[in-house]
Amino acid sequence: MATLPVATLPEATPLTKIALPPHADYIHIIGNMSEDSGYLPEPKGFSTKAIHSATNPDKWDSMCVVPPLVLSTTFKQPAPGQIKEFKYGRGGNPSRNVLEGSLRALEDAEYALTFASGLGALTALISCHSRGDHFVVGDDMYGGNFRLLDKVGKNLGIDVSIVDASNLDTVKNAIKPNTKLVFIETPTNPLLKVFDIRAIAEIAKNNGALFCVDNTFLTPYFQRPLELGADLSSYSLTKYMNGHTDVIMGAIVTNNKDLHDKLRFLQNTMGIIPGPFDCTLVTRSLKTLALRMRQHNSNALAVAKFLEAHPRVLQVLHPGLESHPHHALMKKQTSGHSGIMSMYIDGGRQEAENFLKELKVFILAESLGGYESLAEIPSIMTHASIPEEMRKELKITDNMIRLSVGLEDPEDLISDLKHALDVM
Ligand SMILES: Cc1ncc(COP(=O)(O)O)c(C=O)c1O
Repeated sequence: MATLPVATLPEATPLTKIALPPHADYIHIIGNMSEDSGYLPEPKGFSTKAIHSATNPDKWDSMCVVPPLVLSTTFKQPAPGQIKEFKYGRGGNPSRNVLEGSLRALEDAEYALTFASGLGALTALISCHSRGDHFVVGDDMYGGNFRLLDKVGKNLGIDVSIVDASNLDTVKNAIKPNTKLVFIETPTNPLLKVFDIRAIAEIAKNNGALFCVDNTFLTPYFQRPLELGADLSSYSLTKYMNGHTDVIMGAIVTNNKDLHDKLRFLQNTMGIIPGPFDCTLVTRSLKTLALRMRQHNSNALAVAKFLEAHPRVLQVLHPGLESHPHHALMKKQTSGHSGIMSMYIDGGRQEAENFLKELKVFILAESLGGYESLAEIPSIMTHASIPEEMRKELKITDNMIRLSVGLEDPEDLISDLKHALDVM
């Protein structure tokens, strides 16, 4: 047998010492939060599942490694009424099935369903209930979730109590005989409060109510509500799960078959479905979820530590900081934090607007969870639909800035923030 040529590699050049960037003190590249600090371990095999589950090439005649994007809205029946796998695209589609399979695998759950948006997912959940049912909902939530519960849910006859779920007695006291659902976001938006998932799950269970955690901020990579006792985890996939700021979509993941069957019925019946192209994009994005979340985590922690030391910043809200009042709870129920944080700057609305105007890397825009860094004023943007009184009580004031720290180089993010704070 002929010997194949081999490449001769050049001698390795000795490593030169790299000069550290200006704000290196704040920059910790953390591979595994659990190693340094008593967080829960990161989920085992997460990336392998993200890359290989539900996308097996053997499933397709073409053996394609990337699952096909199937746009067809209808599917041939071998004989009238005989369905091979799919009938009509609203009820199911191969590209959507692949994504729902991946979501299921990432949470080690039995069922996952996708919806037209995060609000579409909550719409389906509300629609599983009827007039006269009561919900207990954690305060400090995405303005759109509040608007849907307050303007649509209440209109349909659902009684909604909004409580500070960091006080477990308040949650217990809010329960009524007709309480059917406890719903929280944790960490919360935009105050980054952390609610005790295990304890609230127990309260819900003892009172025969379902418990849903909106896990948009942390994804199943950092927080696993079903394993902590929740019945459902819901998502705006629009955020970290897709992570590329080019899809609006939602999902609900559960192990409860009855609930899944109801939600599946509503997904089709109410027509709150995502399109196949978007499903393909999210399936692609999930392959890099763990990598992205680790980088969001380390970038945001670097930014938070920098901000905490800046004289024009009054307070930084980031549950990974030791100064955060819920830091210990955060470690008990998560394996890290994402790129979302808030801060109060020294000043009012004018200073907040000046600050935003000076930013060059952070983009002034709503939303979060993409690779790009964003900044906004919740009181007049994402949370404008929360009544003024409630905003005042929660301290969502005009000098609060919410940041979604992206995947750029952390020293560039810190320089950008430093400049804007110094001149605002
Ligand atoms: C925590 C949270 N849940 C739900 C939603 C709603 O998701 P969507 O915009 O995909 O409808 C958002 C949107 O910002 C959110 O931040």
